[in-house]
Amino acid sequence: MQDRPYSQAAENNKAPILSVLQQHCQTPGTLLEIGAGTGQHAAWLSGRLPHLRWQPSDVATNLPAIRTWQNEPFNRAEPPLELDVSGDWPTGPYDYLYTANTFHIMAVPLVERCIAQGCQRLGPTGRFLIYGPFNYNGQFTSDSNARFDRWLKDVDRERGIRDQEWVVEQFEQEGLALLADHAMPANNRILVFGR
Ligand SMILES: C[S@@+](CC[C@H](N)C(=O)[O-])C[C@H]1O[C@@H](n2cnc3c(N)ncnc32)[C@H](O)[C@@H]1O
Repeated sequence: MQDRPYSQAAENNKAPILSVLQQHCQTPGTLLEIGAGTGQHAAWLSGRLPHLRWQPSDVATNLPAIRTWQNEPFNRAEPPLELDVSGDWPTGPYDYLYTANTFHIMAVPLVERCIAQGCQRLGPTGRFLIYGPFNYNGQFTSDSNARFDRWLKDVDRERGIRDQEWVVEQFEQEGLALLADHAMPANNRILVFGR
């Protein structure tokens, strides 16, 4: 039994995510994770990317959960930082920004703000990596993603799977280009942006 917040999805996707981060985050630097959730990714990934200073963040209510995962033996993440993307942001700059499963949770204006504020804090050779489901050519990439989108909108109609092309446009407005688009298990992607 888990006595702390736990996400089975985060357990399932952490190893595939690690392989992509190893490819795009080779230079030592500081990584800001936005919307760290339970903190499982921070605890596990930080220990396997020891050249990165991993800074998890989330809204205030999630910080206790993230702290409980920091007792993991290989955790190297910093104590979690309070960051609601709608509010004040830390000064930065950051070498890497990473966020998983947040763009379909945040309303569109929040996603726009996350991209704009994040890009302003990204160093010149920085990378912004986004994990999650995306639509292409206005289409869901699977029936399960279509069902997931309906469920998201039943919970909150501002939620929903975003169009990959729309996300790319938002980054281009900030001067960043799509450098890679990795297929991930369970009909997810990792989009990688840089200057
Ligand atoms: C589905 S969870 C994903 C958690 C984790 N990244 C993962 O993949 O397991 C969405 C996360 O987005 C965060 N989030 C939602 N709105 C936010 C906001 N305005 N600012 C920062 N984080 C936000 C939630 O607190 C939550 O941790």
